[in-house]
Amino acid sequence: MCVLCFRRPGEPPVVAGSLLWGSTVDFNRHAVNFLHKCRSVYGDVFTLRLVNQYITIVMDPHSSEALSKERNFDFDPIQKQVNWNVFNFSLVEPKKMIKDTGRTVRGASMQRGMHRFVTHLNLACDEVLPANNNNVDAWMSVGLRDFAANTIFDALFNSIFGRQSEDKDFSAHKVYENFKVFHEYFNYLWLGVPKRFFPAVVKALGGLLAQPSADQLLAADETSDYIKNAISYMRLHGQSDSDIKGHNLVYLHVNHNTFRIAFWIINHVLEDPKAHEALLAELKEAVNQRLDKNNTATFTQRSLEELKVLDSVVQETCRMASGVFMIRYVTKDTHFRTSDGKVHLMRKDDRVAIYPPAIHKDPEIFENPSVFKYDRFIDAKFYKAGRQLKNPLLPFGTLCPGKRYAMLQLRWYILVVFTRFEMRLQAGAERAQYDYRYHGHEILPPVLDVTLNYRSIPGHPLLDFGVA
Ligand code: HEM
Repeated sequence: MCVLCFRRPGEPPVVAGSLLWGSTVDFNRHAVNFLHKCRSVYGDVFTLRLVNQYITIVMDPHSSEALSKERNFDFDPIQKQVNWNVFNFSLVEPKKMIKDTGRTVRGASMQRGMHRFVTHLNLACDEVLPANNNNVDAWMSVGLRDFAANTIFDALFNSIFGRQSEDKDFSAHKVYENFKVFHEYFNYLWLGVPKRFFPAVVKALGGLLAQPSADQLLAADETSDYIKNAISYMRLHGQSDSDIKGHNLVYLHVNHNTFRIAFWIINHVLEDPKAHEALLAELKEAVNQRLDKNNTATFTQRSLEELKVLDSVVQETCRMASGVFMIRYVTKDTHFRTSDGKVHLMRKDDRVAIYPPAIHKDPEIFENPSVFKYDRFIDAKFYKAGRQLKNPLLPFGTLCPGKRYAMLQLRWYILVVFTRFEMRLQAGAERAQYDYRYHGHEILPPVLDVTLNYRSIPGHPLLDFGVA
């Protein structure tokens, strides 16, 4: 690979780094600051060496669509690397499968999925209240991360696999605990470091794979359309039960991101009294407008999307919490034109990437980018180099088929918890910080949990999700 030391005319400059690690250490220390510094030295397009992989970074946000549409930049080898190195399987005909299964997170399937999610979330919210009915309005104290796990992760898990008994290894709570361990090592695993080097990962994976069989999942009414569709597709293409289990875990893994965002939304809103007040006022008004004589308010996807403060806090949290690369494999030498008209020669077998967090934290696009501004996205437009950005936020890259579903679940979750519980962060305690060691994960986790105090709001409204 040292052929890269010799750059051909038109190829982007390689960032100077250590002989052994290239730019890995600088990138790991603080990816966003490092990339901003590289841009000031090398311009909008430059190549990093991360150990033995060469990744050309395109810092121009106006070029994200062109990069995503370029046929010689392929996502398949990237998902193949992650599926194989982390989850021990490969998909046969992944593009066709993703197109096929993608239908189950839209339209009628999505509505069915939402109804399951709503039901499981109601149950989960009941379960985080005191067991003694006389004491139901008492203040409770718990880690916010555990609260989010016991509510939204529980509802996501059970709406995907059907309610699994808590005494089994494959239950919402145990999977959450095993994922914590598994995700700690995720960045080593996807780069190809063997799992046997990490006994904790091997143990956690054992629990994560103690799943119901494909036959049991297909036969159960409660299994999500996505999982049933994926199992049928994989069987049709001769894939084994162990491949299917690996794929089930990938699906849980993408849903785990929704849980991480939920943590950060609650945290940011509770840290900021103005955000808290504005959100509560908006939700209260929206609920009151819809309340019927049974104390029930019904929301549709569209009516949720119209709530501007809710939308803005969700988007602003995605901006702050995103940690992912939008990365593609270069299948042929390609002349790629960025939006300023310059042409860059991308080398076959390298990778090319946009790093959304570097865009999300660009002060030219987002004023004071390290500050959570709850109303930043209300009726706002964003500009770079004097031109309006079509996609200022890329936490889902450009390919994620689950974006709309995940955003809907998040909006629903925030509506439910903020109308059902009175919540505040423990006064005087340490604040949650993003854990930047998890760069490369779609959504960053916190370094440490924070304490949440909450109690049930007496006479809170009942919420229903209706067909749009
Ligand atoms: C908050 C939750 C989620 C986040 C932050 C997220 C983020 C992402 C990102 C960044 C990518 C890479 C896209 C690219 O490079 O252009 C991706 C791909 C993908 N996501 Fe999501 N995702 C989430 C939820 C979901 C859900 C609920 C599904 C369920 C259908 C899903 C299914 C996928 C699939 C199948 C791909 C691969 C697409 C392909 O190979 O063409 N994701 N996601």
